[in-house]
Amino acid sequence: MKIGILGYGKMGREVESAALDKGHEIVWKIDASNKDTLTPELLKKADVVIEFTTPHTAEENIKMVLKAGIPIVTGSTGWYENLDEITAFCHTQNGTLFYASNFSIGVNLFFEASRYLSELASKYAEYTVDIEEIHHTQKLDAPSGTAITLAQKVCSAHPHYTSWCMDTSPRPDEIPIRAIRTDAVPGTHTLTFQGPNDKLVFTHEAFNRKGFASGAVTAAEWIIGKKGVYNMDDLLNLKK
Ligand SMILES: NC(=O)c1ccc[n+]([C@@H]2O[C@H](COP(=O)([O-])OP(=O)(O)OC[C@H]3O[C@@H](n4cnc5c(N)ncnc54)[C@H](O)[C@@H]3O)[C@@H](O)[C@H]2O)c1
Repeated sequence: MKIGILGYGKMGREVESAALDKGHEIVWKIDASNKDTLTPELLKKADVVIEFTTPHTAEENIKMVLKAGIPIVTGSTGWYENLDEITAFCHTQNGTLFYASNFSIGVNLFFEASRYLSELASKYAEYTVDIEEIHHTQKLDAPSGTAITLAQKVCSAHPHYTSWCMDTSPRPDEIPIRAIRTDAVPGTHTLTFQGPNDKLVFTHEAFNRKGFASGAVTAAEWIIGKKGVYNMDDLLNLKK
């Protein structure tokens, strides 16, 4: 498979390494310094584009790739408030978009297990839910896309909760999320069910970025030949 890498930072470099390990070819690499060289002609040299840039550039990049008729896998976070608009745009282009706030298989198992735990805990009002995420200091968005997806999984299974917030005094129906920034942490997420006499603490800790990169390459292999908008629930067959 010929892959174009859009965003050649920490994740772009890991994607390159994972893709080469799986026998794919990297036909171009673009970052902020050479983005003006990305013409439609160059774009079309790729069978698929893998995009890891920033919350502010992801949407424009996704639209540009879809307009060129090339499938795109994006791992950029912090733009999901416009997911409906981008989904509609993808359909108007008859394009292919795969997005995930987290490509690691472990995190997606964690999401599903969290959903199930939330369903069980929802029967016992004495347990309240909170989320903590820890990331490296260069991360631009807070809370992380993964923490937001985790909160959405809890809300989908726990009727007491309808949304999340970063306030220290949440409404009863809001899940508080605490975002901590400290050096060199690729991503740690903890879901806690706190009761008066005990607590359940459920953590996913990424040791490095390889799991995210490998998942993104797997998603790129998987979307070839498909049309529409997909995420990890489709890839891992987790859709409820
Ligand atoms: N989905 C996942 O599994 C996952 C995992 C890790 C990180 N992320 C997300 O991926 C994104 C990138 O993370 P990172 O750690 O690689 O960041 P990074 O800062 O190391 O790299 C970002 C890259 O994007 C490039 N860039 C910026 N603007 C651009 C533009 N307009 N066109 C092309 N390239 C541009 C920069 O030059 C840089 O190379 C972030 O949003 C992060 O939250 C997602």
